[in-house]
Amino acid sequence: MTEIDPSRLQVVDHSLVQHKLTLMRSVDTPAPLFRQLLRETSMLLAYEALANLPTMPATVETPLGPAEGQQLKTDPALISILRAGNGLLDGFLDIVPSASVGFIGMYRDHETLEAIEYYTNIPQGLAGRVTIAVDPMLATAGTAIAAIEKLRHAGASDLRFVCLVAAPEGIARVHAADPHVRVITAAVDQGLNDVGYIVPGLGDAGDRIYGTQ
Ligand code: PRP
Ligand code: URA
Repeated sequence: MTEIDPSRLQVVDHSLVQHKLTLMRSVDTPAPLFRQLLRETSMLLAYEALANLPTMPATVETPLGPAEGQQLKTDPALISILRAGNGLLDGFLDIVPSASVGFIGMYRDHETLEAIEYYTNIPQGLAGRVTIAVDPMLATAGTAIAAIEKLRHAGASDLRFVCLVAAPEGIARVHAADPHVRVITAAVDQGLNDVGYIVPGLGDAGDRIYGTQ
């Protein structure tokens, strides 16, 4: 069995996350419901992934006088790995609407399982702010590693990768390539089948989200 370093991996075992994930795994869940469940789940994953954003003191006036509070020091950057990443992005934006958003378009070649890039638009100024890459599936990690390399090259310092389902092999490969990326996931599954799909997984996330099967 592949070893996983617990200090760099957070599995979100919240009851609602696990409930919704189980519904999403079901082959009987149609695309509209899948999308809705993914959006709801992404808000819960965002709550965990964004828990320790740097804040600074702020004072506001309530109707009864001044109140000392906190506000975000810098807005995070969210990077959606197209196309399935968009299924997670909207829930994140519901939670942190002031985030900057970038996109990395990549698909897996079905034969080689290599990530093929077709579009990139990454926000400026990633250094010194929390950068969160979102993609529901971390399988062989070819896509994640290519995206992480691009984000590091663009200056991302505090880099987190949020997914819904991960294969143990994929997590290990991400950390072998970049030991400082924090992986946040709702589940670590058994492993990969011989065509690189996560077992039991939920199938092809993009197809499940957009009804393209
Ligand atoms: C899926 C998924 C990840 C990738 C994971 O995308 O959303 O991006 O596969 O596989 P890997 O870890 O082995 O690289 P896909 O290539 O199906 O593209 P899509 O999002 O456009 O459907
Ligand atoms: N991509 C998916 O969408 N699902 C998998 O199981 C593996 C890669």
